[in-house]
Amino acid sequence: MTRSKIIIDTDPGIDDAMAIFYAGLCDKLDLIAMTTVFGNVTAEIATRNALVLAETMRQVIPVARGAATPLVQTPNHVSDHVHGVEGFGDMPAQTPKGSALDVPVPEYLCQMINDHPGEIILCPVGPLTNIALALRLDPSIATKVKAVVIMGGGLHSGGNVSDYAEANIWNDPHAADEVFAADWEVVMIGLDVTQKVVCPHSDFTAMLGDAPIIGDFLAQATDFYIKFYQDEVGVDGCQMHDPTAVIATIYPELFKYEHHPIEVCTDEDRIGETRISNDKSRRLAKVAVDVDIAAVKKIFFDTIKTGF
Ligand code: RIB
Ligand code: CA
Repeated sequence: MTRSKIIIDTDPGIDDAMAIFYAGLCDKLDLIAMTTVFGNVTAEIATRNALVLAETMRQVIPVARGAATPLVQTPNHVSDHVHGVEGFGDMPAQTPKGSALDVPVPEYLCQMINDHPGEIILCPVGPLTNIALALRLDPSIATKVKAVVIMGGGLHSGGNVSDYAEANIWNDPHAADEVFAADWEVVMIGLDVTQKVVCPHSDFTAMLGDAPIIGDFLAQATDFYIKFYQDEVGVDGCQMHDPTAVIATIYPELFKYEHHPIEVCTDEDRIGETRISNDKSRRLAKVAVDVDIAAVKKIFFDTIKTGF
């Protein structure tokens, strides 16, 4: 079975860790690189954490450090109340053995996509700053990716950091608007579906026997993450935002979609809102509006259990 090449642009981040473990263990995907971005944590911590995740999986995966600030706006505060100061809940900072590539992310993304035309799934699960900068550098990458599948936004769901904005979009609305305006079909895996995929802590402790190392990592990290959802969101479990987006790259049939041109509000009142655009020059985005929750959860945990 041929594996699809995937590059994850990420701000790890606890649900990012789930997404990266899933992609690294999935026999349908070849995680050929990770690029990092500010968001849940600083770009520096995101880069350290991406290296730690690859090493926890005992895999050599190139990591390139990306944008530390948004394109235009003043940076929002990192989400340490959700992901912890070091990005993995109460887990102490770990020092990776390896180091990041010494290459600018926009150039790196353009090079990889131009070297593998039609082959790479680009899966951003953080703010879209790196992706917008890569499009500015070489707009033709929009026509050369196999797919672009983002975790971000929400069409009918409202927001999670305001009534209107989802965190990844809110952290760089200008970049997100440039991404939706580019010449490609953005697959938007947003809060309309990711808020429905909720896992209690027992789901994570249940896999400790099958995957004691990766399972223990996630059980520890989700302790903190689930407490945030219990206390602040009122759900007894965590919303599986980023792994749901990665699963959508290879199991699109588990989702229902609407097709609309999408724009991002960059003004004060509803900044970060993803909404249907009247701009007829924009390509239609494929917006996930429903999901087979049980199937996504089963695919995630069955794959993680193949780890160690
Ligand atoms: O709104 C959820 C998104 O914001 C996820 O990608 C999470 O990791 C944070 O980056
Ligand atoms: Ca993320």
